[in-house]
Amino acid sequence: MTFSVLYMGDIVGEPGREAVAELLPGLKKQYDPDLILANAENATHGQGLNPQHYQYLKKLGIDGLSSGDHIWRYDEIIAELDKPDVMVTRPANYPGSPGKGYLDFVVKGKRVRMINLIGRVFMQANLDSPFFTFDRLVTEPPAPDAVIVDFHAEATSEKRCLAEYIDGRAQLVVGTHTHVPTADAQILASGTGFISDLGMTGPRDSSLGADKREVIKNFLTGMPWRYTVGAGQCELGAVFCTIDFESKRATRIEPIRQFTASV
Ligand SMILES: [Fe+2]
Ligand SMILES: [Fe+2]
Repeated sequence: MTFSVLYMGDIVGEPGREAVAELLPGLKKQYDPDLILANAENATHGQGLNPQHYQYLKKLGIDGLSSGDHIWRYDEIIAELDKPDVMVTRPANYPGSPGKGYLDFVVKGKRVRMINLIGRVFMQANLDSPFFTFDRLVTEPPAPDAVIVDFHAEATSEKRCLAEYIDGRAQLVVGTHTHVPTADAQILASGTGFISDLGMTGPRDSSLGADKREVIKNFLTGMPWRYTVGAGQCELGAVFCTIDFESKRATRIEPIRQFTASV
C-alpha cells in the first residue's frame, strides 16, 4: 500500500500565505496527496509564525507545519507549541526548548512520523547533533510505519550527508531554509526520496522572499536592516512523493514549482 505527500517549502509572509490559498486547491486536484505538509518558519511577516496564521494555514488544508531558526519570534506560538493538538514542530535538536520535534499522523491507518531537524553548519553551533537526534526519534515508540524529515539547514553537504546517513530509515528527506529550489530531487540507494531544498513559497521578485532593496543595502553598507517581505507574483516550491509502506521506499519524487497568477 502506498501513500503520497505534498511538502511545500518555507511560506514567506502574507504573499506566501496567499500563494498557498491560490495554488493549493489546484495541487490537491492534480496530485490528490494523502498528507500535506509545509515549512512555516517565515509565515508571519517573514519571520516566525503566530497562532492566527497557524490557524489560517491549517484551514487551507495543511495537515502539519515544520519550522526552523525563526520559530522563536513570537511568544504566543511558543506558548502553544507543547499542546498535543497544535500541529507545529520546532527542530527536534534544540537542546532544551519548548515544543515538539516531531508529529505523528495517521494515514491510511498507518503511523507516519514527520521529524523536524536543523543543521549546525553555518548556523547555530550549540545545538544537538541532527544525526543522533534522528537515531533517537526514529525508534521512539510507538514505532512509525513511515518517516518524513524536514532538515532545515544551510549547507548542501550537511543536507546530503544526513540524507545518506538515514537512507532507508526515512522515506523522504526534504531540505528547507535556503529558499532556493535545488534540481536534485532523487531516490537514494536504499529508497529515501531526497531534495536538498524545496525552495520557498513567497514573492518571486525578491531576495529569498525579502524586499531585495533592503538586502542589497545590507550588502553595500554592512549595517543591519530589518527586512520586510517582498511583493508581487509568488512562486511555490514543493515536492510530491509517493511512499510504499511495505518496501519502506519512496517510489516517486517530483519537484514542483508553480507561480501565482497575480503579477
Ligand atoms: Fe526560511
Ligand atoms: Fe530558516
